[in-house]
Amino acid sequence: MKTLLKFFFFVVVFCSSYAKAENLLDGADLGYGEYLSGECVTCHSKDGVDKGIPAINGLDAEVFASIMYAYKTGEMDHPVMMMVAGRLDAEQIASLAVYFAAASGGK
Ligand code: HEC
Repeated sequence: MKTLLKFFFFVVVFCSSYAKAENLLDGADLGYGEYLSGECVTCHSKDGVDKGIPAINGLDAEVFASIMYAYKTGEMDHPVMMMVAGRLDAEQIASLAVYFAAASGGK
């Protein structure tokens, strides 16, 4: 019986952490992302051209969100982007991710 309980516990924990990864884009709002992107395109080219700063248009939305979380946690180490990402909440990151993924002129 104990083993069975442990098994169920494992399944529940496993499923919820899996769901978390799947929900990187929860609450995404394209219009909100466009609004927030104003700050980003002062450095990142709006046309998706790399001028020393990488272009971020057309990046896969989940990849984009993962990168932002990596900056947020300091896993990816860049002072400017760590500061930018540190101020964004999950909904804002999701919205920016879907906006830039849909933006043209990118990779
Ligand atoms: C002050 C300038 C500046 C601003 C503002 C800025 N970024 Fe950046 N961003 C950079 C630089 C510089 C890099 C490259 C960092 C490196 O080389 O490690 C970068 C890297 C990135 C990357 C990784 C790109 C890649 O291909 O590796 C993403 C994604 C990104 N920024 C998203 C954003 C978003 C979203 C915003 C707005 C909320 C934003 N940035 C605002 C300067 C900026």
